[in-house]
Amino acid sequence: MGEYRIKGGKRLKGEVRIGGSKNAVLPIFAATVLNGSESILHNCPLIQDTFISIEILKHIGCTVTIEKSNHGDKFGNTIIVDSSKAHNWNVPEKFTNMMRSSVLFMGSLLGRFGKADISFPGGCKLGNRPIDMHVKSLKKMGAAIKTGDMLCCRTMQMQGTQIHLDFPSVGATENIMLAAALSIGETVILNAAREPEIVDLEHFLNGMGAKIKGAGTSTIVINGAEKLHSVEHSVMPDRIVAGTYLTAVAITGGEVSLVDIWPRDIVPVTAKLAEMGCQISETGNTITLKAPPRLQYVSKLETSPHPGFPTDLQAPFVTALSVADGTSVVAENIFSCRFGHVPELQRMGADIMVMQDGRNFVVRGVEQLKGASVEATDLRCGAALILAGLVAEGETTVTNSHHVERGYQQIELDLQAIGANISYH
Ligand code: EPZ
Repeated sequence: MGEYRIKGGKRLKGEVRIGGSKNAVLPIFAATVLNGSESILHNCPLIQDTFISIEILKHIGCTVTIEKSNHGDKFGNTIIVDSSKAHNWNVPEKFTNMMRSSVLFMGSLLGRFGKADISFPGGCKLGNRPIDMHVKSLKKMGAAIKTGDMLCCRTMQMQGTQIHLDFPSVGATENIMLAAALSIGETVILNAAREPEIVDLEHFLNGMGAKIKGAGTSTIVINGAEKLHSVEHSVMPDRIVAGTYLTAVAITGGEVSLVDIWPRDIVPVTAKLAEMGCQISETGNTITLKAPPRLQYVSKLETSPHPGFPTDLQAPFVTALSVADGTSVVAENIFSCRFGHVPELQRMGADIMVMQDGRNFVVRGVEQLKGASVEATDLRCGAALILAGLVAEGETTVTNSHHVERGYQQIELDLQAIGANISYH
């Protein structure tokens, strides 16, 4: 387990290129099982969750090759998955307890084999993270699912049907799409999640011959295909990494241009940064941000399903608000326990009060945080603590770097490139 050491006080300035999206490539890896053929994936992030997904694909019998970019940087990596010889529908706990998105193999294995034996998913500890909507939806499509210490799923044939989600769950929406791609008939998902990563999954599945439309809206229609074929796809840019870096620069009063990002995907984030006093401009696939010497508070920051403010940037924004001028109220409406960053920030001098419900925080901006040794408890908490180190007085050590490495490929190199005094040990 590594750690990041950061010396605060540097104003970040420069240009950063954004790589492929973790939350887009993970469902796409699960989808490569469906075509029994070759899937060529460009712009893949080489993060921990990618390597876990590759282990799962190999375990079920796929061959996977990684072609690293030949210009010596971390971008432009291609991963080729050949699922023609996949023969195993078992995904054991050693894989699933490391990564929540392992649950997506349930839909694609059911679609390919009519069978899936999969352990319950692990992943970031953000409170209760049931998979009831996944199970209920797949059952409605014709899967018999026995839940013991594993989920044992069997079906003669997945059938198209109408599914109304109680909540626009990203994972449940993706699992239904994966199971429906090869089902008989039409599946309609009502109250579907609208995240950009779901649009990328639709593009990938349609690239292999699926017949899906409506991703990005609340109603997605999938007409089951007889067979799917090989596909080549470039993974969309990571909007959460982009939002993290914009916030990192904003908190230091700096300026940055992000390259290879789709501005429309992070409107909720750039709108909030503008409210906090940043000047934002967008041209094509570039976003430029110029921060004020000190950020302004926001009266309310509420996380909600896309196109609302993304929950994955709540922790980095709480860090930014903890040194803003004024008092902000933050409401975490997606997860029941996404405040692991708060006690660690309080140890650095942040003035944050968590309300009874554990979902609402009052953040009173302070002039200065103090460097400390703090512990990352999950992926985005780790990112938030690194951002705190960028502005804290003295040195900050962020331990449990493995959490951060799940979603950020060499974050220390990107931040060093724009002037941060950060190292990985
Ligand atoms: C995806 O998780 C992302 N992960 C998360 O990113 C992200 O925070 C989340 O969507 C919300 O945008 C990936 O894409 C790999 P949900 P997911 O199903 O699919 C409840 C990160 O940091 N729920 O939309 O698990 C659930 O408990 C990660 O990159 C049920 O109750 O999110 C949560 O409270 C963290 N029953 C809410 O819905 C279900 O069957 C949203 O969950 C499913 C979900």
